[in-house]
Amino acid sequence: MRTAAAVVVPEQALERLVLLIREETGNVVPPARHGFLEEIAARRARAHGFSDATDYVRALAVGQLEGEWEQLVALVTVKESYFFRAPQQFRAIERHVLPRVMAAKAGGDQTLRIWSAASARGEEPATLAMILAEHDALTSWSWKVIATDVDRDALGAAERGLYGERAVSQVPERLLDRWFTRRGGLYELSSAIRDRIEYRPMNLSHIPYRGLTTEPFDLVLLRNVLIYFSRPLQRRVVTEVTRNLARQGYLFLGASETLWQIFDRLAAVDLGQCFAYRHPEEVEAVERRERRTSRRSSRPSAPADTGDPGETGDRRPPEPRRPLPPSLFAPATGPNRVPRKPVPEPAPPPLDDRTVTDEVRGDDSDHPPLAPGGSAQDLLVRAADFLAANRIDEAMRLAAEARNADPSEPGVYALEGFLQDLQGRPSEAAGAYRAALYLDPALYQARVLLADCYFRLGSRDRSEREYRQVLASLERDGGRELVLLEVLPFPNRPRAQRLCRQALARR
Ligand SMILES: C[S@@+](CC[C@H](N)C(=O)[O-])C[C@H]1O[C@@H](n2cnc3c(N)ncnc32)[C@H](O)[C@@H]1O
Repeated sequence: MRTAAAVVVPEQALERLVLLIREETGNVVPPARHGFLEEIAARRARAHGFSDATDYVRALAVGQLEGEWEQLVALVTVKESYFFRAPQQFRAIERHVLPRVMAAKAGGDQTLRIWSAASARGEEPATLAMILAEHDALTSWSWKVIATDVDRDALGAAERGLYGERAVSQVPERLLDRWFTRRGGLYELSSAIRDRIEYRPMNLSHIPYRGLTTEPFDLVLLRNVLIYFSRPLQRRVVTEVTRNLARQGYLFLGASETLWQIFDRLAAVDLGQCFAYRHPEEVEAVERRERRTSRRSSRPSAPADTGDPGETGDRRPPEPRRPLPPSLFAPATGPNRVPRKPVPEPAPPPLDDRTVTDEVRGDDSDHPPLAPGGSAQDLLVRAADFLAANRIDEAMRLAAEARNADPSEPGVYALEGFLQDLQGRPSEAAGAYRAALYLDPALYQARVLLADCYFRLGSRDRSEREYRQVLASLERDGGRELVLLEVLPFPNRPRAQRLCRQALARR
């Protein structure tokens, strides 16, 4: 039994809530986030006048709380996004995908259909719409971007189109001037762009996707959302998305995501700095056409438009390029492997041929720039604040900066362990917690989290040893708290004691 600000949140209520969220939205809430969920459950129970979250969860389960799922979904889903996130993908869309899809459809109705399938607050569909609006060859075409998300609040924010400094930090200056208006500290996206986007609530875990469209899509962005689903659901979602992908269409996942070991009915195509997925028959047709063209012209098959690296088909989905959460990208155990083949760098376009995406600020990493840091402790506190606000990417970066600033600060490793666990990497998390405890063995909260990781990794003996050690240290001298991380829902002393005793009793 736990209490949070006068509302009781029993363990069973929390576990049931985790299951309900998974059933309703497909999102798996990892154990490291249960502390956040507990606070959310307490807050929502209080808002409905319950003093015990059990009653709240029961009412939620039987559909008694009208509109409650909308509230809850907004609180439990991760909304991390910004304009031109992973610019190399938008570059490939602008230079490679659009010309090819247009060529394939030139004899038809000159309509482009585009879908941003987890559009968050609209940063991604608006980036696409800006690129399309800037594309001269598209002026006589009809096009629309469909933006869907499970979170209606986020869609509402997208329709309003107001963004902070960070969201627009990678937008090229020229586009910022043309498509945004400064409103105090915010940037308002022009209605000319918003009108090109159709915002619709849609839950990717509700399959089949009824009412989405009658026509398939030429381009689908399904970025940074599969990672929150279980593997069977990832497979079902990609199968359904594939059903909605036109024959000549392209599917993009997040920059560090892959369908490797998930789905093999799409072919990965190498677009130089990134991959996309296509129907394999279309990839073969393109290869045949390009072979014919190159034989006829007896010159290499690189297409004429500068900066287009061409398209290399590969029936196998690419393996991940950097360590990724095991839930999506790698076998459940064992390290991620290195890529099967190196990715060639395409030649940069000449300066007089610069296009919208060449002007994107920042690099091709999957992160927007952050304000410069301070001392290790400041950085750590800021990282924890980001994490408390569900902004995991920034929390990770600041934690790494804090570690560089002072590798002997144990709190850094505790936070990194927590972040690893949040992303489904319990063995990396355990390693980080061990590092924290090596530097300060009295950090009882890090030890409870380490014990929990061992338990989930199947090391019962080690887990029990750690739980016992927590109890001993709390009884001996009270242990030490992770004071710099106080905004995070780590167990306090009484709760840590309770958790350890419960864990030892379940043997
Ligand atoms: C991390 S954001 C990704 C935003 C954007 N695609 C990007 O890459 O920048 C994840 C988004 O997925 C949405 N989401 C989570 N579960 C979903 C579901 N079952 N159906 C549709 N959208 C979902 C969340 O609401 C959130 O907006």
